[in-house]
Formats: sequence, structure tokens, C-alpha cells
Amino acid sequence: MDTATVQRFLDGMKYEAERTGPPADFPQLADIPGGRYVEHEFLQLEREFLWKRSWLYICHVDELSQPGSFLLTRKTGSPIIVVRGKDDVIRAFYNTCRHRGGPIVKADNGCSDGFVCGYHGWTYTLEGKLINLRDKRDFVGLDMQARSLVQVRCERFYNWVFINEDPQAQPLEEHFAPFIEYFRQFQPLQWRFVMQEGFDVKCNVKVLMDAFLEVYHLKSIHTNTVDRFLDHRGTTIALYRNGHSLMVTPNRRPDWVDPGTRGMPRVETATVVSAKNNPSFNFFPNLVTPVDPTGAPFLLFWPTSDTTMRIECHWFAPDWGGGPIPDLWNVRIANFDRILAEDLQFAEAIQQSMMSAGFTGMPLNYQERRIYHWHEELDRRVGVERVPERLRVKPLLARYCEN
Ligand code: FES
Ligand SMILES: [Fe+2]
Repeated sequence: MDTATVQRFLDGMKYEAERTGPPADFPQLADIPGGRYVEHEFLQLEREFLWKRSWLYICHVDELSQPGSFLLTRKTGSPIIVVRGKDDVIRAFYNTCRHRGGPIVKADNGCSDGFVCGYHGWTYTLEGKLINLRDKRDFVGLDMQARSLVQVRCERFYNWVFINEDPQAQPLEEHFAPFIEYFRQFQPLQWRFVMQEGFDVKCNVKVLMDAFLEVYHLKSIHTNTVDRFLDHRGTTIALYRNGHSLMVTPNRRPDWVDPGTRGMPRVETATVVSAKNNPSFNFFPNLVTPVDPTGAPFLLFWPTSDTTMRIECHWFAPDWGGGPIPDLWNVRIANFDRILAEDLQFAEAIQQSMMSAGFTGMPLNYQERRIYHWHEELDRRVGVERVPERLRVKPLLARYCEN
């Protein structure tokens, strides 16, 4: 990260801490219509135009450690295999046999030399090519080359693998460009996969996402945890094109170190913005990561129905030199889970409120503008003309986007 950008965030935190109100030219944000969280018709649009057409994080390359390693995901709503080929390239395919749609793999993960459909035995390479089928004599003129597994876009952000069901999607490198630059300071190619865990929550996916896009709630629900070490009043925010955003929150004391990270290997090239403050990224739509020079969780927010979701935490850290994960991690993750439990406590009650006549919409303040920015992008992805007028979000923040 260049010195000008470092300075932009340092100045930003100072400005936010000292201001007496929002900047004079900052617009009054319109209410977010409540129906965007509960109306089935709207959530169907979201499924089709957001979840099926976005870059979504699936795994770290460590989780596909050798040629033939694969995993099966249904996160986008379709069954998709992500597999490391013999050529070490990681690809994604629909888990859908080109004969009559039989599943190519049945296990959630594993390692294989190739794929044999369980239904009638059509055989594919790890690269998706159809190479054999039973009783070929009865498939007169079948063009096997045209029956390869259907590929899904699969690209990497450093060693993190993302998929996108939209064949026309913008290349991942362009899409996440500001974050590629920002992450370089962490030497992310040296980072390793630590562990993952997940929790089912009874709320619409956006209810919980929203909580991770602002720090306005710290004083109420993280009184004895995060609020002790982070000063939410100094949070500076950068909004980027494509719905992405970043907030950097200053530590209350500049020399503060998270006790859970003491003794862990630390990236020495991290700038002061990341080493002495708390940056948290939103890779639109559903990846939030607060990055520390000693490691980071990728928090993933997945809809499981209109009214339920699953949050996953995938942990990564600078290489600890091989071998099993150091014991220190148990304490660090336990600390984090305690904070996460604080964040989850109101989710179900909020969902119930949203489904009642008591909830009409959400007024957002200046500190909550990342949520507004997220919703604006959702309408752009869906196509505003498809969104019923009463559920639209008025575009207001484009001119605040940074390059
Ligand atoms: S469905 Fe796969 S071989 Fe028939
Ligand atoms: Fe929180």
C-alpha cells in the first residue's frame, strides 16, 4: 500500500474522531425498505441475480492439496465440484453428468484419479473431459468432445479460490482490484489454512451481514469485548465500485496487541494502518474479513432459505512452519467465538420483528453507510427495473466511491 493511501486512512481516522457531525455535503440516506429482507419475490431476484452471478469464496488452495483433491459445494444453489487437475490448475464444474444429470461425485470432498458417474458409468478426467462410456456402439455419432463437464468460472485472489456461475462475469482480478493491492502488504501467498467452523442462524442472510458492516453497535453488544480495544468513533470508511468497502477502526491505545495473537508469527511488511488499527473488508457480497498481521478469519454469509442462513469462519495465518496448528489458536478462536456469539444474539429476534407489521424500514446513519452502499449495489446487480418500485434503494453514494 503506497504512502498516500496509508496517510488517507490515518487522516480519515483523525477526521472521524474529531468531527461533530457528518460532512456537510453527505446526503440524508433514505430508509431501506423492510420488504427487501422478507418478501419472497425480492429474495428470488436476489437468488437469481446476486448469488448466481457473484464471485463467491469457496476454499483456500491448501484444502485442495494434491492433484485429484476435490470438494463439492452447493453454496450458490447449484451443485458444483471444485477440483485440482493433474496440471495443478484448480477448476470448477457442475456436478452434473452430461448423460442424464447423475451426480459425478457424491462425497463432500475427497481425492480421485478421475470421475465416474454412478448412474451409467460415463467417465471424465479431472479436467472435465469425457473419456469413456459404456456401450458406445449404441450412441451412434455421439461427439464426446462436446460432452465435457460444464465448467463454472473459477479464479483466485492470491491463494483463495472463488467461483462465479455467471460466464460473463468481470474477471476476478479486475473485480477485486483495490483489495489485491491492499492485501499485498500481508504477503498472502505465505498464508496457510488453519481451520473452519460454521453456525446456522435463524434470520435472513442480510440481517447478520449488516452487523459486520458497521461498528455503531460496539458499545451496546460488545461492551466487555471489542469496545474495550476499538474506538468506533474514529472509524474511517472507503466505499469502492462493485459494492466492496473497507472500514478501518483505530485501537483505543496505539500499542495495544490482541492477547489472543501474542506469540504468533506476524507479517512484518504490514503497514501501520493494519498493524496498529483494525481494517475490515467486505468483498461484495458475502465475505467480510478483519485482517491482522498474525492472521484473519474469512467470515462468509450464506442464505439457506428466505429466513435462515449459515455463517462460516475460515481462518488463515502466516506460515507457522509446518506441522499441526499451534495450541495458541485454540485460545484465539475461542475468544473470537465469544464475540461472534454477541453478534448472533439478536439475529432471530430481528428476523421475527422484520416479519411483523412493526417493521417498516431502516433509517441508516452516516456510520452505517456501508450497508446502504451494499443495498445500492444489490439493486444494480438485480437491475433496478426488476425491483418493485416500493422496494428500491435510491442511488446516493456513487460519488463517494474511491478508485
Ligand atoms: S447419468 Fe451419468 S452416466 Fe448416465
Ligand atoms: Fe459485532
